[in-house]
Amino acid sequence: MGGSNHLNRVQISISSNDDVSISRTTNRSSGFSSIMKFKRGPRCYALAAAACLALLVLYLSDFSYVYALLNKKVPVKRHILRWEDHHHEVDHSRPRIMIGTRGRMGNHMFQYATLNGLARRYNMTPIMLGSLDILDVFKLPTLQGDFSLLRDPITYTEQKASAYNPGVDKIDPNRDVYLDGYYQSWKYHDHIRADLLDKHFVLLDPIKEAADRYIASLLANRKKQGATLIAIHVRRGDFVRQRVKGYTAAPIPYYYRAMDYFRKKYGNVMFIICTNDLVWAETNLEDEGPDVHYSRETDGALDLAIMMACNHMIITSGSYSWWAGYLVRGEVIYYMGYPQPNTKIGNLTNREDYYPPYWEGKW
Ligand SMILES: *[C@@H]1O[C@H](CO)[C@@H](O)[C@H](O)[C@H]1NC(C)=O
Repeated sequence: MGGSNHLNRVQISISSNDDVSISRTTNRSSGFSSIMKFKRGPRCYALAAAACLALLVLYLSDFSYVYALLNKKVPVKRHILRWEDHHHEVDHSRPRIMIGTRGRMGNHMFQYATLNGLARRYNMTPIMLGSLDILDVFKLPTLQGDFSLLRDPITYTEQKASAYNPGVDKIDPNRDVYLDGYYQSWKYHDHIRADLLDKHFVLLDPIKEAADRYIASLLANRKKQGATLIAIHVRRGDFVRQRVKGYTAAPIPYYYRAMDYFRKKYGNVMFIICTNDLVWAETNLEDEGPDVHYSRETDGALDLAIMMACNHMIITSGSYSWWAGYLVRGEVIYYMGYPQPNTKIGNLTNREDYYPPYWEGKW
């Protein structure tokens, strides 16, 4: 391979009318030459400017619509109540209360409910931190601000994530408060349950409408108008993989027993199964049938709205399941095997603090 054979010659010529032409020839194939031409005219600048503008608009605008479209989610516009915009409506002499945000949607719902439950109890101003994912689902009426709004706060750290921590009984009602933890117990907020259902966990309109449409078309297709709707939430996924920590997924007979209970009690029923493990549910639970439907094309937000629109609920484990049950206004059946006692999670739970006394446990 002689070097001379691979001699490349590149010619760049710039002519007066802004044409740049690059021609590249090799002497081996003198007949073969590639010529690239770039036209740096006004059209090119206009195109670049348009592209920049489009990127800027995308950057500045609310991405949620693009995101929703890509993820097949119901597009929503968040309902944001910024402290900066509303602080003049607040009595600044009242102590303020905030709570840290840990975990995911279900955990955030517990934290939000505890924040408002304790704010009511101690006559404080609740402020929610950050831009939580529950804002993609609910029209929350609590002002949003950051940690700096607390004036020399006392921090209360919980002992157990899924229990009532008696430390909150000793909160100083004259000081700003910061709560650190998960605070997962109905005892923190059951006294404001009516408000939580009617004023706080109010679905954003597009999600509510999508859920109503979903259920109406389901009932019409099955000729089941007038049936009692029972949601079943099947939580598996990480709960199956983390058994040693005490996360337990409800076993098959639990579902059949709970469904049997509702069939006997209400007769004309329609079960809607929502799950994060469709493959397991469809393989192991009752088949799609005259009174059994699997929600398939939905995401966590729409599923929650569908479950909330049901009359009664069969929950399994985890805080998302818990909240679907709490927001349903009828009967709730829960799985007594969650969490497994004498495990990490089991030790962080007091069952009587975690499950409301008006729910019914089944094995
Ligand atoms: C749970 O608590 C029991 C009793 O206090 C203790 O013996 C056990 O080691 C704890 N288990 C875990 C995994 O922390």
